[in-house]
Amino acid sequence: MCGIVGYIGNKKAKPILIDGLKKLEYRGYDSAGIAILNSGEINVVKSKGRIAVLEDKLKDISLEGTIGIGHTRWATHGEPSDINSHPHISKNGKIAVVHNGIIENYIQIKEFLLAKGYQFKSETDTEVIAHLIEYNYEGDLIKAVIKTLNELEGAYALGVLSTDNPDMFVAAKKDSPLIVGLGQNENYIASDIPAILKYTRDILILEEKEVACISSDKVEIYNLLGEKQQREVFHVDWDVSAAEKGGFEHFMIKEIFEEPAAIKATISPRIKDNEIVLDNLIITDEIINNCEKIHIIACGTAYHAGVVGKYIIEKLARIPVEVEVASEFRYRDPIINEKHFTIVISQSGETLDTLMAMREAKKKGSLTFAIVNVVGSSIAREADDVLYTWAGPEIAVASTKAYNTQLAALYLLALTFAKRKGLLDQHSYLNYLSQLQELPNMITSVLNEKKEIQKFASEHFNAKSIFYIGRGLDYALSMEGSLKLKEISYIHSEAYAGGELKHGTIALIEEGTLVVASLTQEQLFEKMIGNVREVKARGAVVLAIAQEKNADEVAKIADAVITIPNVDSVLAPIVAVTTMQLFAYYVAVMKGNEVDKPRNLAKSVTVE
Ligand code: AGP
Repeated sequence: MCGIVGYIGNKKAKPILIDGLKKLEYRGYDSAGIAILNSGEINVVKSKGRIAVLEDKLKDISLEGTIGIGHTRWATHGEPSDINSHPHISKNGKIAVVHNGIIENYIQIKEFLLAKGYQFKSETDTEVIAHLIEYNYEGDLIKAVIKTLNELEGAYALGVLSTDNPDMFVAAKKDSPLIVGLGQNENYIASDIPAILKYTRDILILEEKEVACISSDKVEIYNLLGEKQQREVFHVDWDVSAAEKGGFEHFMIKEIFEEPAAIKATISPRIKDNEIVLDNLIITDEIINNCEKIHIIACGTAYHAGVVGKYIIEKLARIPVEVEVASEFRYRDPIINEKHFTIVISQSGETLDTLMAMREAKKKGSLTFAIVNVVGSSIAREADDVLYTWAGPEIAVASTKAYNTQLAALYLLALTFAKRKGLLDQHSYLNYLSQLQELPNMITSVLNEKKEIQKFASEHFNAKSIFYIGRGLDYALSMEGSLKLKEISYIHSEAYAGGELKHGTIALIEEGTLVVASLTQEQLFEKMIGNVREVKARGAVVLAIAQEKNADEVAKIADAVITIPNVDSVLAPIVAVTTMQLFAYYVAVMKGNEVDKPRNLAKSVTVE
């Protein structure tokens, strides 16, 4: 996520802004900038790269003002670059804006403003906010900001400076975090508490769709009707480390709890008027209809997302899909040509095996399409096209929210392919869209079961080996559940197709062996009930994952059941995986492991 800081008081703003941005570096970013208001002028200094690059630029510039805003950017619209960095300035140079979030209707607003004679310098969605506030400005900044916010769709945390208002600045929040820090004759804004903990522990938490007018000696909060709001002061008693994790014990659990927001950010901007809209994709109807095969190439968790992708694309779009780990694909002289289409999946966009495999596919004439979380990363830049997952930075080595958003992207693609091939009637299509938009709430329901999952983990964290079994999409899901457990708990684990147990592995099942069984797939439910009976008969302890409608039946044979809300089987993995992520997390915590930085692992494997 981007990071925002703001200051107004009697000290020089520059060092306070830079210090605050440094405290937000852990959030992940690719560029940084500040804007300071002094003597009726707004001075903006911003640059691609680390804050140190910005500091270098600032060395020869004396910025004397005592009011300013700052920003670290995690790119979503527009590659990391100086010009795409924030703050963004309005046409007349009188308004500066920093923004965290995604403006879903920025293209329509941009077209409106272009027709009004505004020019745009950047590729960002944020720049439209600066110009639109100027367009709406009639001498009252708060009113102009409120009018603008009522015209925006999407998520925002904002800081707004105006040359006409040297004694105050404005902040606003919807679906992106923003707090106000209260000092003595000085006040602050920040995306997160660590940025201001050094100066104050007294904060006001902005609620949804609220605007704050911040001067050095007072803070006024309004709703989007312009009505003043009251707000209790919240005293922060966290230490810095806890504050960086938003009060969570680890980044991993914080990122699991970010999944509803991450999925909403990835899906919501791409469903407009009951239609999936994937802007400027190269995938034409001709490509889809002429495509003989789709290759999905990735590593690790991203590969497991690809296995889910295979099942759903073949089921919905009836296109043959071959999914393979990148390190195998690239060395086996793969049979691939211009009639094949290649999807590469990567959270970091820098995994060397995946990058090299994509180059191999390109060399053999295949169109390449990337599903990536980091804007402007190597894979994103080299692919013929890219569909970004807007999960925000993933700090923990074990991938969680990125996996969920990779599935979200694959659902959007599979449904688009199926619709364009005329294989999906309108009723089914709309039903899928409605369930896609319900996913954040479904995952929230799973997160609300964390206590039951934590309890089961506390009973089994000393297991020597844990088997994950499932059929169809539940088998693909089991692969990811097993990897999540292995990489942070260091417990041996294997994922098995339920129907495959009898061909060997069941010999390993003995009294007390722990088996995690996924039973979310309607058509395979009875078969999986049989597999659970098989392992129970040999003494296994079974943790079952099932849809609510089957919970009672599964509870009769399993030792514990974690339920997910009733959902179409195709969409079940994106909800059910959260139960497995939580289970793996609590087991690793019980074992006292370094959950965010497991032994031997790196967040991005940029070597062979
Ligand atoms: C996932 O928990 C692991 N950290 C690892 O398997 C990871 O998914 C793999 O290295 C691929 O990384 P990427 O998605 O950044 O390409």
